[in-house]
Amino acid sequence: MYAIDLDAPALDRHWAVLSAEETARARRFVRPADTAHFVRAHAALRHVLAAWCEQAPERLVFAAGAHGKPHLADNTGSRPVRFNLSHSGGIALLALCEQYELGIDVEVMRGVSPKIAEEYFAPRERAALAQYSGDEWLQAFFRCWTSKEALLKGEGLGLNVPLDAFEVVVNPAQPPAIVSIAPQAAIQPGWRLFDVSPAAHAAGTLAVHDPRASLTVEHLQCRWLQL
Ligand SMILES: CC(C)(COP(=O)(O)OP(=O)(O)OC[C@H]1O[C@@H](n2cnc3c(N)ncnc32)[C@H](O)[C@@H]1OP(=O)(O)O)[C@@H](O)C(=O)NCCC(=O)NCCS
Repeated sequence: MYAIDLDAPALDRHWAVLSAEETARARRFVRPADTAHFVRAHAALRHVLAAWCEQAPERLVFAAGAHGKPHLADNTGSRPVRFNLSHSGGIALLALCEQYELGIDVEVMRGVSPKIAEEYFAPRERAALAQYSGDEWLQAFFRCWTSKEALLKGEGLGLNVPLDAFEVVVNPAQPPAIVSIAPQAAIQPGWRLFDVSPAAHAAGTLAVHDPRASLTVEHLQCRWLQL
């Protein structure tokens, strides 16, 4: 698990490892800060994966699943890798491992409209959220949001699942967990959720498809990457 500070400048050496497609995406952002965030996040992704696979970062080629989840086009080396990236504001989280499928979501906590919960959360999640106010409400909202998002990203389904067809724990004082999955959600059994919040103002959840439940706390230690 790596956390990346995206608010530092994007340097020539960060741009230099990106593909033509990533460079074009970076240049399409209107705000210079968004360009810098994207460049630093993708340079970090390439450096970490390159070290794992013992390849040059600029030589890595990415492909995408049916709904856009990225993976390495050639993942047949001696050390295969599964990974997922998330960025919000000035923070990115990157999770990678050899064996298990992963999904990760980080959200810098900011004011949100309660209408978002009404629109996306399941009835019991909305009822649980209604018990909170102020900062606790925000923490509960983002615990629920990042848990749902991490699970969706783990499955690689994007927005192709009705968000109220599965329920997660809302209480921010409890570990994140799945409460129920309706059959129409098309989410496999065997997912586990972990709190990987990288800072007091940022919520993070990691979803790991670990049917054998062998993941331990040491695997979840988050290192801030010096880029
Ligand atoms: C990409 C998606 C999965 C998440 O987007 P997001 O929350 O804006 O962004 P994140 O920073 O967490 O993740 C983006 C990264 O995930 C990866 N990604 C892209 N598509 C993905 C997919 N289908 N599955 C998993 N990961 C994906 C990419 O590495 C991407 O980074 P990049 O944009 O720099 O290339 C998008 O489909 C989406 O918008 N999902 C749902 C949003 C929502 O309404 N959630 C409600 C939760 S209650």
